[in-house]
Amino acid sequence: MKEALKKIKEEALGALSAVTGQQELEDLRVRYLGKKGEMTAILKQMGGLPAEERPVMGQLANEVRAAIEAKIAETKAAVEAMALEKKLESERIDVTMPGRKSELGHRHPMYIALDEMKDIFIGMGFEILEGPEIEESVYNFDRLNTDEGHPSRDWSDTFYFTEDSTLLLRTQTSGMQIHAMESRDLPIRIVAPGRVYRKDEVDATHSPMFHQIEGLVIDEGITMADLKGTLNTVAEKLFGKGTVTRFRPHHFPFTEPSCEVDVQCHECGGKGCRVCKGEGWIELLGAGMVHPRVLEMSGIDPEKYSGWAFGFGLERTAMRRFNITDLRLIFENDIRFLKQF
Ligand code: DAH
Repeated sequence: MKEALKKIKEEALGALSAVTGQQELEDLRVRYLGKKGEMTAILKQMGGLPAEERPVMGQLANEVRAAIEAKIAETKAAVEAMALEKKLESERIDVTMPGRKSELGHRHPMYIALDEMKDIFIGMGFEILEGPEIEESVYNFDRLNTDEGHPSRDWSDTFYFTEDSTLLLRTQTSGMQIHAMESRDLPIRIVAPGRVYRKDEVDATHSPMFHQIEGLVIDEGITMADLKGTLNTVAEKLFGKGTVTRFRPHHFPFTEPSCEVDVQCHECGGKGCRVCKGEGWIELLGAGMVHPRVLEMSGIDPEKYSGWAFGFGLERTAMRRFNITDLRLIFENDIRFLKQF
């Protein structure tokens, strides 16, 4: 038995010296020290020894076991150190390599223009309102004096949600006039920016989704002169002192009288060029005196109160503000374009 123990010890220490991997180490531990291992097999034979030999053998067995355990621990540490070394080697970072630059974004030009407009209107005492893009026809059309059968209500122009045409993607922010009259006490002075939707094909001046900013003022004694004064002030603040505007008669169902407002072309100064399509003027917005029927439908007495309203195209305003010639650039989000503002 003494011989057998010595042999196990020599074999085990020899085998352990050659170990390079963790699994291999574990296999050897099981083989020598495990429940069914070689040491256990030897110890089972102890019972057959004469009584005086047992303590001596027992001690020897313990020594062998301790020696193997110590070697296993030592090997384990070495194997782990080797594994770590390998891992560090494979994950080595070259700190001298140039880094990947992260691009810092900024506000979109249209929202820069919108913020400028908000500032201008807030400075004049207006309140900023927001409202739903999914809208009821009542707000988008009916209470804006736009009856059934009006061409703007056509299914070919408007995105409807329901067969009975009661729910739609708003085609204009003008419905916010009605929301304002419903939720505010008089006098009212609001602007309401937001997205609107129409069934238009995309081209240099059209998109099925675009932005408007609606304005509404209602009080006693409000006149068209207030409208012109306000819009001229806004135009000068946005586009610079001396900006020339033009008020053209027009028709909208919810204003009477109605007009469209143009600014002189920034590119040619009114002579006519590619940007203004030879017109010399760029159309910016629709406006007018709020129709008495519209006031009445919202429970406001048109004998006592009057008001005006306007609706800017926001993309168009940003294009004019930043000399952008194609609407698509605003939506395509090409970094090379956006970076310029
Ligand atoms: N909602 C009109 C449009 O989308 C623009 C407009 C015209 C708004 C006249 C107004 C207004 O408030 O008074 O074409």
